[in-house]
Amino acid sequence: MPMILVTGGAGYIGSHAARALRRQGLEVLIFDDLSRGHREAIPQGCRFEDGDLGRPGDVLRVFQQYPIDAVMHFAGLSLVGESMREPARYYQHNVGEAALLVKTALQHEVDRFIFSSSCSVYGQPQRIPMDEEHPCSPISPYGRSKRTVELLLEDCRRAHGLRYINLRYFNACGASLDGRLGESHQPETHLIPCILQAARRDRPVHIFGNDYDTPDGTCIRDYIHVEDLATGHLVALERLHENDVGECFNLGTGKGLSVLEVIEETRRVTGLAVPSKQAPRRPGDPAMLVCDPSRARRQLSWKPRHSDLTTILQSAWAWENDRRY
Ligand code: UFG
Repeated sequence: MPMILVTGGAGYIGSHAARALRRQGLEVLIFDDLSRGHREAIPQGCRFEDGDLGRPGDVLRVFQQYPIDAVMHFAGLSLVGESMREPARYYQHNVGEAALLVKTALQHEVDRFIFSSSCSVYGQPQRIPMDEEHPCSPISPYGRSKRTVELLLEDCRRAHGLRYINLRYFNACGASLDGRLGESHQPETHLIPCILQAARRDRPVHIFGNDYDTPDGTCIRDYIHVEDLATGHLVALERLHENDVGECFNLGTGKGLSVLEVIEETRRVTGLAVPSKQAPRRPGDPAMLVCDPSRARRQLSWKPRHSDLTTILQSAWAWENDRRY
């Protein structure tokens, strides 16, 4: 039975996607060094190889030992602020390791690749919502590392016939609806878990900037439930089986929500006060990032099912109160 190699499958988005693949009856091999992922997040029925994507021998071993049919590459560093402080580390992990992975895959005649890209490849929005034709001018080393891998994949398509799909996520959030999987970063910097943790501990969440050019002055983002992202990977994989393609798709809802709107809805969902405190702008934050998801809707028949803010917050709140890891 052919297997899907899922790098970073013990991480937040990777574990949800691995579970969705298993539920489709596919064989899944998770490759993760557990440096940021969690052993407890590895879904039942998935095989697991503890390995380091930076070590050629570890990567080679996987392709030699298993009948890999396609790769989903989630592993990577993903904090914009950290990437500003440590750019070389971001290029080493996000670009160097992706290059080694693609090269090894092609050497073993694995020519299907799904890449976890990000809306950060676009940089400062020139128009809202942003479709896939929006110019790519990333403004952080993180965004540039993601864009560089996209270009690497396109070069490999031209040279070797690699079939690939870049999925450009907007703001991933929420937890699995059965409460088994969720977000667990150390340190936690993402808005929704920070708000929920503030609610639980009755400590203020910081609002980074209230003087943006938005209706309430706080930043606007497009929040997409992690289970919807997982489904996006399933339909992308089907498309790679049917077509000889190299493509990009945005995964988002098309609806922007401000920091204040998320806090307000959290008060309603939790019934708690959720204290907040004004703080300076966070360097590198664009005022507004909103997705135009119409290409994924049209060509992948994908649409978000769990990404209304109430469902996102209810699932994340349930997770926060009963965390497995
Ligand atoms: N924010 C706060 N207070 C917090 C945390 C966040 O006000 O305690 C604000 C941020 O300033 C931003 C918004 O909430 O305006 C969302 O911030 P997140 O850190 O949750 O998410 P980002 O938009 O910064 O980052 C996400 C992904 C990155 C990806 C980026 C693309 O986590 O991987 O989108 O812009 F690169």
